[in-house]
Amino acid sequence: MSCFENLLNNCSGCRLCDLHKTRNNIVFGSGNKDSSIMFIGEAPGENEDLSGKPFMGRSGRLLDRMLSQIGLSRDNIFIANIVKCRPPLNRNPNKTEISKCIPYLFKQIEIINPKIIVCLGRVAACEIISKDFKVTSQHGQWICKNQRMYMGTFHPAALLRNPNNIPFAEQDFFEIKKQLIR
Ligand code: URA
Repeated sequence: MSCFENLLNNCSGCRLCDLHKTRNNIVFGSGNKDSSIMFIGEAPGENEDLSGKPFMGRSGRLLDRMLSQIGLSRDNIFIANIVKCRPPLNRNPNKTEISKCIPYLFKQIEIINPKIIVCLGRVAACEIISKDFKVTSQHGQWICKNQRMYMGTFHPAALLRNPNNIPFAEQDFFEIKKQLIR
């Protein structure tokens, strides 16, 4: 069994926090494990919990559209979340849930070893880039850490609530495209 399958197996039976009690499925992440780019969201919602796949609802369709604008699709990226199980009523994951779950994500990053990590929204950016990350003022900025390039941008669900920010997010995606071919 590969490291990745082993990790998936461990995660599937995870009971490290209370979210396991209400989940239908873990949402481990999906896409191409050999990709040089990973996108990281916050937590599964209802559609994701039911399907076991990340970004399945309206925000997923917006993400797909922005990916296609830069020539990418789910087949050539990997998408995961900060936590693998749905928080009830789609509340933000709490500190305990994040601290119990995030080692799975760090292991995924180690195995996939992407050159670029894009954090979708404040929760992911604060966990992965810097704890006081502000999406409105820092989106689109590249940060180099441990020989990887990191960027935080708007969460697609936030863009659906505030479509005025969609052009800023699209600009960030064009920067991602430039970084990918660098
Ligand atoms: N929002 C996220 O952050 N992740 C998903 O998988 C779905 C919605």
